[in-house]
Formats: sequence, C-alpha cells, structure tokens
Amino acid sequence: MTRYTLSSLLLIMIVGLGSCVTDPNSPGLEYMPDMYRSPAVEAYVDYGEDPYYKTEEVAKSQRNTISARKPVEGTIAQVKSGDFNMPYAYPNTDEGYAAAGANLTSPLATNQENIEAGMEIYQIMCTHCHGEKGEGDGAISRNGLIKGIPSYTGKLKDLPVGNIYHTLQYGKGLMGSHASQMTQKERWQVIEYVKVLQNGGEMPEFDANGNVLTAAASSDEAAQDQPQ
Ligand code: HEC
Repeated sequence: MTRYTLSSLLLIMIVGLGSCVTDPNSPGLEYMPDMYRSPAVEAYVDYGEDPYYKTEEVAKSQRNTISARKPVEGTIAQVKSGDFNMPYAYPNTDEGYAAAGANLTSPLATNQENIEAGMEIYQIMCTHCHGEKGEGDGAISRNGLIKGIPSYTGKLKDLPVGNIYHTLQYGKGLMGSHASQMTQKERWQVIEYVKVLQNGGEMPEFDANGNVLTAAASSDEAAQDQPQ
C-alpha cells in the first residue's frame, strides 16, 4: 500500500467515525443539511414580509401568526383598506341592479387623486374594449370580436354610479365580472374616471389641493386672467 492510499483510508475512517454520535435520535454529521431536510413551509403560518430566517424573534412571531384559516362565517375580515371590506349588498338580479343604481353611492371623493388613479386603471383594464375615450371602440371591438360596446356619452351618459359598480361586480352581457381583478376601492376609482368620460372625456381642472375646481370657480379664475 502506498502512503497515499493509507492516508486516504485514514481520512475516510476519521470522517466515518466523526459522524457517529451518542444521541440515537441524531442523524450524525450532516453535510448540506438542506438536502436531507428541506425547509418545510408550514400551513397556517404567516411568513409575512420578513424572510423566515431573519431573526429568531421574527421567526417566532411569524410561526404564531395564523395565515390560511378562513374567517368565521358572517364576520368581516379586518384588513388595512378599512372602509372597503363590506360585502356587496345587492344580488345579481334585475332588482339588485335597479336597487344599486338607486341607492349605492361612492365612498370616495371626486378629486385629482381618485380620478387619476381611476384613469390609470381604466387604461389597463378597460380600453381594449371600451376605447381610450369610452366610445366603445377599443381594439377588441374594432377587430369585431365583441360588438355593440356602448359609448359612455350615448345611452350610458346618465348611468348612475351604483349601476356601474353593480356591472363591475357581476358583469353584464359580454362584459365579465371585474370583482376578482379589482379591489373595491379600485372599482370606485375607475368609476371616477368613467364619470369624466360620461362628460366627454375632458379632465376637470384641479386646485392646489387636488380638489376639482367647479365650473363657477374656474370661470371666475378665467375671468381674472382676462386682461381688462
Ligand atoms: C371584454 C370587454 C370589456 C371589458 C374588458 C370591459 N367592458 Fe365594460 N362593457 C362591455 C360590454 C360588451 C358592455 C355592454 C354590456 C351590456 O349592456 O350587455 C359593457 C358595459 C359597461 C358599462 C355599462 C354598464 C351598464 O350597467 O349598462 C360600464 C359602465 C362599463 N362597461 C364599464 C367598464 C369598466 C370601468 C371597465 C374596466 C374596469 C370595463 N367596462 C371593462 C365590455 C367590456
């Protein structure tokens, strides 16, 4: 036997013996332990925004946080969006549609923030059918795939916000429900922009605080701007 064979045998023995431990439950020395035991993802654990292994303290609190349990029936989940958690009260029937149109109003203010947020959502979620200006001439309509999309300035001009919300909730005709794609707040925001389109698509003017300038206020200002 050469010296090298001897020393490599010795090395194997040392490594082999090294993995023997007295604790019968211990698997011994593990190389790459993740290969033996993958980090298990626990059900009902909220891994939160912090990485699981950030600190023991974080990991402990996350282990004790419930994640995947369904809320008790009849209760309303308390999530950060606060006011927008209420279940939708109107059924998917003609009567429900009529009642929503008559009673449902927006919880949002008509201001720059909501109108502009609504415009962004509209451009992403609605233009391909309804068209940039809401004339019913989006790409899908022009290609003839969905015909007869109504213009917002036509028979929908005076459609109440409650009806629009109802249609976003359940869909109508060839328009599918948008309830799973948009939060309640986003639905009301896009409605703020649909209202602009119902009025011809011209964005209102805003004051420094982002409130809509009323026609009277803006014409006053225009009058002031006029040289005497
Ligand atoms: C797949 C194409 C499509 C998409 C996407 C779509 N719509 Fe529609 N929408 C339609 C069609 C078709 C109708 C006509 C439904 C009917 O009256 O039968 C309609 C009707 C409407 C109406 C009138 C509802 C009523 O009560 O009469 C509103 C308001 C509306 N859409 C808003 C939106 C908004 C806002 C979005 C984006 C979040 C959107 N739609 C996305 C196709 C679409």
